[in-house]
Amino acid sequence: MTDHKGRLTKDGIRIHDPSDFAGMHAAGKLAAEILDAMFQHVFPGQSTAEIDRVITQMVDDAGAKSATIGYKGYKHASCISVNHVVCHGIPGDKTLKDGDILNIDVTVIVDGWFGDTSRMYVAGKLSRKSERLIQITHDALMLGIEAARPGNTFGDIGHAIQTYAEAQRTSVVRDFCGHGLGRVFHAPPNVLHYGRAGSGPVLEEGMFFTIEPMVNLGRPETKILADDWTAVTRDKSLSAQFEHSIGITADGPEIFTLSPNGTFHPTY
Ligand code: MF3
Ligand code: CO
Ligand code: CO
Repeated sequence: MTDHKGRLTKDGIRIHDPSDFAGMHAAGKLAAEILDAMFQHVFPGQSTAEIDRVITQMVDDAGAKSATIGYKGYKHASCISVNHVVCHGIPGDKTLKDGDILNIDVTVIVDGWFGDTSRMYVAGKLSRKSERLIQITHDALMLGIEAARPGNTFGDIGHAIQTYAEAQRTSVVRDFCGHGLGRVFHAPPNVLHYGRAGSGPVLEEGMFFTIEPMVNLGRPETKILADDWTAVTRDKSLSAQFEHSIGITADGPEIFTLSPNGTFHPTY
């Protein structure tokens, strides 16, 4: 078994050593580089299976491992969630249409450390309402990250995200959350993207986790399709998501999955 250094808080959240940040930066960087390379593979007529093939190849070429292949029987190196798909879209032969918006979510393992990130892409021309949703979701994530500092609580993160998204008359999905990670894919705590300020565990230096809000133009409710994976909005409204893996330092959040290209947001 892997040697897990550091201690657990009373909520079961691992406190990592300062030396553990380097491993997370390496894993996060690879995941972000892969997403950077995806812009040229997203266009009308392209299949999501082809995008996933390129991702699988890039993970392999880097000498890394996909965290999702084999995870609970999942068979792909990415989740690709198009339009009203909220998350966990399965890559397939269906092709993208002009104006489709999609989230590509990649998790890699580098030297045992997990890097998990996702962002939005557009096939062809971006509509005004899609652009607005993408902007709000991106900004909601960044506000959540800004709230991720020692002494704040996980509720402060959720509150920052929810307050902003709802002020823009969009809704935050409740059925999926961010998660602790490190030498494991999913660990405590559940990082909710909604909540009360001051509620939940207090953030401490050395915590590693994702923030990955899903924001809908319509209502927040989701349902799972018959494939037992794909989550969609019940009301078929458009959904967007962005995800970063971060670590908490004395000075605040450190983002492990920053885009080397500066293309995390698709339009600036
Ligand atoms: N990467 C997703 C997350 O953000 C999890 C995908 S699990 C899969 O936590 F099996 F659906 F790929
Ligand atoms: Co995640
Ligand atoms: Co992810």
